[in-house]
Amino acid sequence: MSDILRIDEAKKHYRNRRGETVPALDGVSLRLGAGEMRFVVGASGSGKSTLLLCAGGLLRPDSGSVAVAGEDLYALSSEERAQRRSRRIGFVFQQFHLVPYLDVVDNILAPSLAGYEGDPRPRAEELLERFGLGHRRDHPPSELSVGERQRVALARALLQRPQLLLADEPTGNLDAANGAKVMECLEEFAREGGAVMVVTHDPAHATNDALRLEGGRLAE
Ligand SMILES: Nc1ncnc2c1ncn2[C@@H]1O[C@H](COP(=O)(O)OP(=O)(O)OP(=O)(O)O)[C@@H](O)[C@H]1O
Ligand SMILES: [Mg+2]
Repeated sequence: MSDILRIDEAKKHYRNRRGETVPALDGVSLRLGAGEMRFVVGASGSGKSTLLLCAGGLLRPDSGSVAVAGEDLYALSSEERAQRRSRRIGFVFQQFHLVPYLDVVDNILAPSLAGYEGDPRPRAEELLERFGLGHRRDHPPSELSVGERQRVALARALLQRPQLLLADEPTGNLDAANGAKVMECLEEFAREGGAVMVVTHDPAHATNDALRLEGGRLAE
């Protein structure tokens, strides 16, 4: 089976304002196949968010490679990379990053501004129904519950039918019931053949097959 995500020996360090080098990823390799969902766990500062940003084409590693659907993301031009990001990769963050002045349906449709094959509206309506947001379609995010906001963010991430979904603590701001709902949505995406990588602090997810980061290295 071909990998949706393949990371080979990714290294990344940041430079802080004092000019010091801060290591964040120290040679991480992993593969994620279609239909697979993996949790990423580790202490604060262990490199989890950095890993997700590198995996999603948002942060170029200093060395190593990241391939999505067999294509080396950082060998592409920045325009091509942006195009692959918008078509193949969905992001969900702990802070939902919704557009405050757009109502729910337009937030979900926002990724289609970067291009969409055909009419994105039926897809948006389907996601509204699936995530139980139909009755909120014309409301701005400020009028939604926190759980609803995260479901809008998830629907938006799925608009383009990505192959890879990257979620950075998607349940961090949710209560247990809403967190469980969001996890169910991620699992469903994987069951339908997507690949999912989820950063979590929930010890319940620190299962055997979780990817455990320690100081920028994977300790499996
Ligand atoms: N923009 C930045 N500039 C400098 N250092 C950074 C930057 N972003 C992250 N770091 C450092 O890189 C390391 C890894 O950070 P990262 O955000 O990936 O950790 P994390 O595992 O996601 O932590 P958390 O659980 O707190 O979100 C940390 O030491 C962090 O301080
Ligand atoms: Mg983080």
